[in-house]
Amino acid sequence: MASQFSKDLLEWYKVHARTMPWRVPPLDYENGRRADPYRVWLSEIMLQQTQVVTVKAYFQKFTELWPNIHDLAAADLEDVLKAWAGLGYYSRARNLKKCADQIVLDHNGRFPESYDKLKKLPGIGDYTAAAIASIAFGQAVPVVDGNVERVFARTHRITETFPKAKAKVRSLVEASLDTEIPGEFAQATMDLGATICTPRNPVCRLCPVNAVCEGFAHGDQNTYPLKEPKKKKPTRVGAAYVLLNQADEVFLCKRPDKGLLAGMTQVPTTDWTASQDGAVGTVNAPVKGDWKLMGNAKHTFTHFHLELEVWVIQIKGDTDMNGWWCAFRDIKNEALPKVMHKVLTVADSQRVAK
Ligand code: ADE
Repeated sequence: MASQFSKDLLEWYKVHARTMPWRVPPLDYENGRRADPYRVWLSEIMLQQTQVVTVKAYFQKFTELWPNIHDLAAADLEDVLKAWAGLGYYSRARNLKKCADQIVLDHNGRFPESYDKLKKLPGIGDYTAAAIASIAFGQAVPVVDGNVERVFARTHRITETFPKAKAKVRSLVEASLDTEIPGEFAQATMDLGATICTPRNPVCRLCPVNAVCEGFAHGDQNTYPLKEPKKKKPTRVGAAYVLLNQADEVFLCKRPDKGLLAGMTQVPTTDWTASQDGAVGTVNAPVKGDWKLMGNAKHTFTHFHLELEVWVIQIKGDTDMNGWWCAFRDIKNEALPKVMHKVLTVADSQRVAK
């Protein structure tokens, strides 16, 4: 039997579900329409580390370029990386491609329907396997993301700290979900967390489950979820070297196929694998000459902050480094991560001032 929480939540969701291009709206769902597993998978991979507003545009681009799993399996990895550029966490794009290949080769182009089989595929962990199994295939598995954790931490006044409390949330969700329509339940909980039970200033007066919320009853809902104190991120430093030629092109090269930003495009830089790699200045510059310091580009990765000095030089002729020259207007077609866009923005003042 569905819990009171679930009944109240799903009533609310019928009216307040957010519209998303990969979703089946609640009314259509009632009329028997089901979500396309390919679109659910693609959106869930994109949503792992990225906000809904950003994902929508990328999702549209991907589904126009590759409307189904066969199209994506037939695509070049380089093109997938280019289309992914700017979304971050680029191993997601590599795994996306690997997963598409595997589904076409080993599963006849059809997504497996069970949580266990889904979890064996590249790039599909606990959360994503549960989300696909539940939303695309109606399997009654608990789907727990940050929104769901917050909703349950508050409604059940969970005193354990996160991430330890994840297991507790999973069992509470399992006990509360609607086994007939688990995918609707999962998405409704996420929407509640994103729009009402927000991290700061939750709108409890409008909340459809305030009658069964223990946090609201005690007036201490804002105290939850309790978290372990965050470790401070270290800062690494380095230098980025922007070479411009007389045709007003910039020199680009490819990062190694392994490690951070694997296979993405960049301008030559020093290493930033440890703080002492901050061999800044132009001692390690790829060519000798009249380098100008344009400023700093700052970017934050999962485990560290990065500060790159941006050095620019105008050269005559070519360089013998591995790489290629790219006109500024074509930069949008390159697999350039955000940190490199920041570097080029800092460098660009030189180009305009020329
Ligand atoms: N975040 C991740 N997946 C989601 C979904 N299906 N609906 C809403 N928010 C989400």
